[in-house]
Amino acid sequence: MNENEKSSQPLSSREVAPNVPRHRPPIKIMALVLGLVVIASIFVLSKTDRRSIKAYINIPELNETQIAGRAIFNSTCAKCHGIDGTGDTKIGPPLMHPYHRKGSLSDERFLKVIRQGTPEDKWKYGHMPAQIDVSDDDAKKILSFFNALREVNKMGN
Ligand code: HEC
Repeated sequence: MNENEKSSQPLSSREVAPNVPRHRPPIKIMALVLGLVVIASIFVLSKTDRRSIKAYINIPELNETQIAGRAIFNSTCAKCHGIDGTGDTKIGPPLMHPYHRKGSLSDERFLKVIRQGTPEDKWKYGHMPAQIDVSDDDAKKILSFFNALREVNKMGN
């Protein structure tokens, strides 16, 4: 069939009956869309607690162990806790925060959290998964770096 033959086809029944309203306003679809917008807004608003918090810190001079710890931290933990624990992500808190001063977060607790993870507790970022790729030895290096940071940033007690 060529183009000319196509256009000479009879008109459809809708086209020959002009009194039939062609477009009713799609009330149901509009209501559905509006409902979805309202639900999406509520969802977004309920997540506004998950804002990123940025800490400003000083970096002390580091020894070899602490330099190694810093590298492991920044390749493994920083995606959630920010570079050098300064936060500024939406998926984890800054570690350089008064909640994590030495008096509130012991060395033992720090190592345990790396090994086992921790449920959502002090923050609104969800839980922290166990860091199974971090060996005990590497965890101690991270801790050594973290303690050096705590010391110079008035979080050492
Ligand atoms: C997938 C994201 C993610 C990764 C990766 C991650 N964490 Fe976390 N971490 C979290 C979240 C979320 C919390 C907050 C839990 C809460 O609400 O108390 C947290 C909390 C912590 C805490 C505080 C625990 C407490 O008792 O208050 C420490 C310490 C910590 N993380 C260390 C680390 C270290 C070290 C690494 C890397 C080896 C790491 N995290 C990797 C998400 C992460």
